[in-house]
Amino acid sequence: MTEVAKLEQQLLEFEQTASKSFAEAQTLADIESVRQEFLGQKGALTNILRNLSQIDKQDRPRLGQTANSTKEKLESLYLKRKSFLDSQELKEKLKTEKIDVTLPARGKKIGHLHPLTQILSEIESIFLTMGFAPFEGPEIESEYYNFDALNFPPGHPSRDEHDTFYTDVDPSIILRTHMSNMQVRIMEKSPPPLRALYCGRVYRNEEVNARKEVIHHQAEGLLVDRNVSFGQLKGTLNEFIRLLFGKPLKTRFRPDFFPFTEPSAELDSECPFCNGSGCRTCGNRGWLELLGCGMVDPNVLRAGHIDPEIWNGFAFGMGVERLAMLKYGITDIRHFFISDIRFLEQF
Ligand code: DAH
Repeated sequence: MTEVAKLEQQLLEFEQTASKSFAEAQTLADIESVRQEFLGQKGALTNILRNLSQIDKQDRPRLGQTANSTKEKLESLYLKRKSFLDSQELKEKLKTEKIDVTLPARGKKIGHLHPLTQILSEIESIFLTMGFAPFEGPEIESEYYNFDALNFPPGHPSRDEHDTFYTDVDPSIILRTHMSNMQVRIMEKSPPPLRALYCGRVYRNEEVNARKEVIHHQAEGLLVDRNVSFGQLKGTLNEFIRLLFGKPLKTRFRPDFFPFTEPSAELDSECPFCNGSGCRTCGNRGWLELLGCGMVDPNVLRAGHIDPEIWNGFAFGMGVERLAMLKYGITDIRHFFISDIRFLEQF
């Protein structure tokens, strides 16, 4: 037998076995390995073609043509079988991976209120049940409402504790340093008797650390009526603390100084976490400093066009971050403002 005849014979046999193998492939993985075996770079056909160089030149084109048409035939066989197996696999998938359209939809992840907003609305709702009405006012404020009307004399050292930010608008226009800026604004608009609650953002030029931020929130209340007593202030705040911490707590009023209240006090409550025996939250003191309060200074009433001979009242103001930190055991005030989802998700 000549070399040519041998090769032709080989090609024929090759075509038969390869066709059979393609036809018998049962899966997509099968057919890929069959393709590698016969048509791949290291496959049987490549081997046969390599021997082409050993035959006579004049016979080569003919043989080459036969080899090519074998290759084409096999490739089309491959494609046909592959597309059959593809559709087979899809059918199988559709049969087994049924979708139950009646299942309830996967819920969308929804957010929730920021911990500060949560405690603010808790504070508000406690005082609203005691008849305090909500008020709002400007964050950009005049020195008059922030200081002068509140009996801070110009140049008084108590102004220094309220180092704030000045604006380009006017040297006397500042960012409010406390919610007490609302006291005289409210008195001017609402004749007594009045009960007001107002909460918001205040600004201080502070060096930021775990306990101090440039921005914080305050909640403040003001009550003006006839014959208001310090005892009523105490009763109101004791009730507030009972509702906020969920149990009655001992309190003490330590004398303090604020220009707009006389007398003034700092209110401490027994630490709700250790019941006064001393723990990390209260720094082993057994007491928590919660807020400032006092009886409204007659000068402030006068600034609000209210006659101090007839009316008197009390006021109290608290840092909302501080209360939230105590209530939830948060150790760094900066957590409230950096929007770290790992922190926020805990509330
Ligand atoms: N405004 C005061 C501050 O920011 C807190 C305060 C003290 C408010 C006594 C009051 C008050 O209403 O009576 O430090």
